[in-house]
Amino acid sequence: MSDTTSCIEFKDVVAGYKDFMILNNLSFKAQKGTITLLLGPNGAGKSTVLKTLFGLLKPRQGQILLDGAEIGGATQKQLLAQGIAFVPQGRNLFGQLTVFQNLELGGITLGMKTTHERIPEVLEFFPRVKERMNSMASALSGGEQKQLEIGRALLLRPKVILIDEPSIGLSPLVVQDVFKLLRRLADQGTTVLMVEQNVKSALKISDEAIALESGRLVLQKPASELLADPHIERLFLGGAHGAAAAPTDLTAVV
Ligand SMILES: Nc1ncnc2c1ncn2[C@@H]1O[C@H](COP(=O)(O)OP(=O)(O)O)[C@@H](O)[C@H]1O
Ligand SMILES: [Mg+2]
Repeated sequence: MSDTTSCIEFKDVVAGYKDFMILNNLSFKAQKGTITLLLGPNGAGKSTVLKTLFGLLKPRQGQILLDGAEIGGATQKQLLAQGIAFVPQGRNLFGQLTVFQNLELGGITLGMKTTHERIPEVLEFFPRVKERMNSMASALSGGEQKQLEIGRALLLRPKVILIDEPSIGLSPLVVQDVFKLLRRLADQGTTVLMVEQNVKSALKISDEAIALESGRLVLQKPASELLADPHIERLFLGGAHGAAAAPTDLTAVV
């Protein structure tokens, strides 16, 4: 039986690239209207979780459920239609097109009429980007570009936002703005799954934290509990089992 209160559920998911299985019987749940932070060392499989959820990889085994219904193996088009939006790591805009044109492309599955109706709504979240509607996307600052990417995802009024390391290349103030926006969206009912190396700041706006090691779940805890844990540093320095492990990016920020 599926749990109807959880928006997203992974059940014993195995997924990987060609012959390399990266997710090894991964199971976890993310509740509706919450932010779940995915933690773990480089290469643990965090981005692979998001890619598998977004249909870029097919699960080899196990199930992925959205509101209790199986979505594992669905196409990206089907997943977008079901309300899943993905903001990948790095820069993902058409730099030589304007801000407005990038938004138009983001709404391609909605049709032009609906897209044009929604663009002003989305831009209300991002006043700086709004002022620069006719600028080339490549002329925006890194923070504005990331905001535009998030805005493009919001056009779809997604139920679920998957966001991979949004803070990379952004100033601390802009990162706080992005985090606050994600919190606001979650409070309005959007389910957010985020990978982020700014562990402490991200935990502050998250509800739940899950940590992966070698594609396996090694910890799932309320974010507030993890934040209050005096061993948080050791946890990420030495891996969730406290075993000696190579230092990771996490060590730099906790
Ligand atoms: N396109 C790919 N082809 C083959 N292996 C990949 C690919 N992308 C990632 N991997 C491998 O999958 C593992 C997990 O990667 P990833 O999910 O990106 O980790 P994380 O986001 O936790 O750093 C790594 O060992 C990585 O080298
Ligand atoms: Mg990654």
